Amino acid sequence: MTSAIFLAMLCLGMALPSPAPDPILDVEWQKWKIKYGKAYSLEEEGQKRAVWEDNMKKIKLHNGENGLGKHGFTMEMNAFGDMTLEEFRKVMIEIPVPTVKKGKSVQKRLSVNLPKFINWKKRGYVTPVQTQGRCNSCWAFSVTGAIEGQMFRKTGQLIPLSVQNLVDCSRPQGNWGCYLGNTYLALHYVMENGGLESEATYPYEEKDGSCRYSPENSTANITGFEFVPKNEDALMNAVASIGPISVAIDARHASFLFYKRDSWASHCLMDFIFQHGYTMGQ
Ligand SMILES: *[C@@H]1O[C@H](CO)[C@@H](O)[C@H](O)[C@H]1NC(C)=O
Ligand SMILES: *[C@@H]1O[C@H](CO)[C@@H](O)[C@H](O)[C@H]1NC(C)=O
Repeated sequence: MTSAIFLAMLCLGMALPSPAPDPILDVEWQKWKIKYGKAYSLEEEGQKRAVWEDNMKKIKLHNGENGLGKHGFTMEMNAFGDMTLEEFRKVMIEIPVPTVKKGKSVQKRLSVNLPKFINWKKRGYVTPVQTQGRCNSCWAFSVTGAIEGQMFRKTGQLIPLSVQNLVDCSRPQGNWGCYLGNTYLALHYVMENGGLESEATYPYEEKDGSCRYSPENSTANITGFEFVPKNEDALMNAVASIGPISVAIDARHASFLFYKRDSWASHCLMDFIFQHGYTMGQ
């Protein structure tokens, strides 16, 4: 094939409208649209359907390969099915995470002789699992979990701390309540606020509310927090010698878009993605 013909075909391809939908997927498409409350204009429908079909194919291919032992995780269709990866990335609002200050890292103080295995739950550092429900509060759960562990380390008391306190009150630091937030800003709130209530006095509500923090009911306090350097050895060191550590994962990767489950990943993260989809649909 000469390059001239190839170019002509390329141009033709680009000028073509969305490919004809695969009739085998008609029922599934209708069901998916109902499930996620999608309604498109006539012009949109063809293009959205094409993207959705493309995503369906990728998910099926991925899961087929995964069945053969590749990848290590499964995917499934979700509310983002009509989005390209570029569109998905655009809707994921970015809260800037300040860059790590050099010189202040936990790395230097860590012990050399690490245990092969450690279970902080068995050692009493971890409160029972809770459900975040229809609120993107995983960042807040992450922070209460980390503080609960360190409080136990210091005082020997394990007290569930208030996630709702963080959801409602860390907006001035830059968090967005049940919509989105990050651990750094939430930790800043606890420091600047000079306290955090317990779950008992400020219980979880799964929704945004006005800030009702009262210093009289404050249960926890932090004097500071530090970053773990971005590598797995540092994380292993920190987890082994400090206690439960707050982590975050960049969920904007293609592999996360339709992620379903695997053996190791944080469900907080997945809830984050799915709940995000739910919030966007509002
Ligand atoms: C937390 O620390 C701040 C600053 O040191 C202090 O003003 C506040 O009283 C403390 N709160 C509690 C509950 O210990
Ligand atoms: C402390 O918490 C309790 C239980 O939620 C509440 O009844 C009380 O009003 C709170 N105290 C203050 C000073 O807000």
